Amino acid sequence: MAEVLLDVRDLCRSFRRTKDVFVKAVDGVSFQIYEGEVFGLVGESGSGKSTVARCVMNIVRPQTGHILYKGVDVWDRAQFRANRRMLQTDRQIIFQDSASSLDPRMRAADIIAEPMAVNHIVPPRGTLRAEAEFQMRYVGLAPSYLDRYPPELSGGQRQRVAIARALAMEPSLLVADEPISALDVSMQAQIINLFRHLQDEHGFTFLFIAHDLSVVRYLCDRMGVLYRGKLVELARTEELFDAPLHPYTKALLSAIPIPDRRRERARPLYRFDEAGFDCRGTFAEVRPGHFVLQREEAGG
Ligand SMILES: Nc1ncnc2c1ncn2[C@@H]1O[C@H](COP(=O)(O)OP(=O)(O)OP(=O)(O)O)[C@@H](O)[C@H]1O
Ligand SMILES: [Mg+2]
Repeated sequence: MAEVLLDVRDLCRSFRRTKDVFVKAVDGVSFQIYEGEVFGLVGESGSGKSTVARCVMNIVRPQTGHILYKGVDVWDRAQFRANRRMLQTDRQIIFQDSASSLDPRMRAADIIAEPMAVNHIVPPRGTLRAEAEFQMRYVGLAPSYLDRYPPELSGGQRQRVAIARALAMEPSLLVADEPISALDVSMQAQIINLFRHLQDEHGFTFLFIAHDLSVVRYLCDRMGVLYRGKLVELARTEELFDAPLHPYTKALLSAIPIPDRRRERARPLYRFDEAGFDCRGTFAEVRPGHFVLQREEAGG
């Protein structure tokens, strides 16, 4: 049995909208990611996916709940301090928009090597430059790009630089927050295949956040569906696609086009009643490993 690498427990985070209006961005979310697994998190825009990722990465502080990484409570000040180096090297994040997450005034080589330099990591390949070159080749970029600045790179090239920078730290956990949605389709496929390779060959653990369900289906072992800050369903990817149980998941999946036109036409389009969504309820295991947010029994 694989070990739990990341344990998200009852995570809550609200943001202030106006003076006295708060939005519950993440509302009691719990899930675990096992070592070597690709865990997908899906949900419409604003459902709280990035907030979960940011809490996991010590970027946004949860109001309540815990995030345990390798058993370390990452938002506990003393535990964070005692494990700072491990937490800063072992978890890496790749953002959707590398144009804004990469410093435009730094060359690709320096961008890739920076986290190693900051963390005083001795480059396994001799110099930081050699390390940057190795990682660059690894993600499929020619070393001739090493001296380019981000604005001189295409979106896909920039995203590879961001991935190379993360990989240089030899992390155990990669959090990828919609890493491909800014790219064109052929570039998306290349990056997805790179992720697949990383997982197959190197056993990386991923928290993979996406809008695109077909990508999640291809890449993820298990997945969770977020709706308005609530996890409404969680299961093995296959099972979730074959037998979704929550009305929101059903609606989400029924909106994916099927390549076969006859089957496409025969399929009922499932509508989800947003107004009827009851955010109360219990997240119950209805089949082994398959969890659904269920309504509280009336009068129960
Ligand atoms: N720093 C912030 N300040 C105020 N509100 C925020 C902040 N970050 C997120 N929110 C709000 O929290 C909710 C969840 O946002 P979040 O970015 O986590 O959603 P998301 O699922 O990642 O959406 P998208 O698919 O568009 O990236 C949204 O209503 C958003 O407006
Ligand atoms: Mg987001």
